[in-house]
Amino acid sequence: MKSIHDFSRAKRARQRIALVTAYDVLAARTAAEADVDAILVGDSVAMVVHGHASTIHATVEMMALHTAAVRRGAPEMLVIADMPFLSVRGERGAAVEAAGVLLRAGANAVKIEGVAGHGEIIEHLVESGVPVMGHVGLTPQSYHQLGHRVQGREVKAAARIRAEAGALEAAGAFGVVLECVPSALARRISKERTIPTIGIGAGKGTDGQVLVWTDLLGLDAAFRPSFARAFADGHALTKDALNAYVRAVRTGAFPGAEETPA
Ligand code: KIV
Ligand code: NA
Repeated sequence: MKSIHDFSRAKRARQRIALVTAYDVLAARTAAEADVDAILVGDSVAMVVHGHASTIHATVEMMALHTAAVRRGAPEMLVIADMPFLSVRGERGAAVEAAGVLLRAGANAVKIEGVAGHGEIIEHLVESGVPVMGHVGLTPQSYHQLGHRVQGREVKAAARIRAEAGALEAAGAFGVVLECVPSALARRISKERTIPTIGIGAGKGTDGQVLVWTDLLGLDAAFRPSFARAFADGHALTKDALNAYVRAVRTGAFPGAEETPA
């Protein structure tokens, strides 16, 4: 996909959308060579790449650096960048500035967690020419309040999440991530909304899915979330390659004649 218009087109055509996160140039180039629909430069970068305990540590500067790297690797692709923790709160001018930084870094659109208290800012960004994707259910930036539990199991909470998805559509969002909500709720919201829903830990009833790069590739042996699927054992592959290299160095098998300049 090249733009947010392909996003809504996919839902109308009932084509499921496959998103993946990426944080660097090589990952982005590989995603672009594969059939991935769009790249999310998630604020998960703070955890996955920088080793922080939560996404609260992502900053606009961090997001911009990784967005620029991803754009260099995938010049033609739809790239969505996360607005980091608190960047849409407070002065609306600050949110506009932060979104401007991310779009100038190469994003086509930004993703914003939650709606309550910043619905007007979302609307203002959309009116200002910044495509916005929503994100409701489990919103990791609020983990000090929510923890890492599935959201929307209770009737009231489910109604609130449905209303949030509706508010996002009304505010002009072009899509919405549903994270860790019961699959029946995710299916219902997906039917109610004309904008595509992208699920993670939300079952198969959404219009698309998103996975974190390292989860999809099984790169982290110590972290395998139950809702994700590792489509490769990237950790074993990487470790085996490293050990093969070390063995080859120690035995003198590397470098060989073909790897040695004349
Ligand atoms: O930051 C991220 O990776 C995300 C996705 C998991 C939706 O927001
Ligand atoms: Na995120």
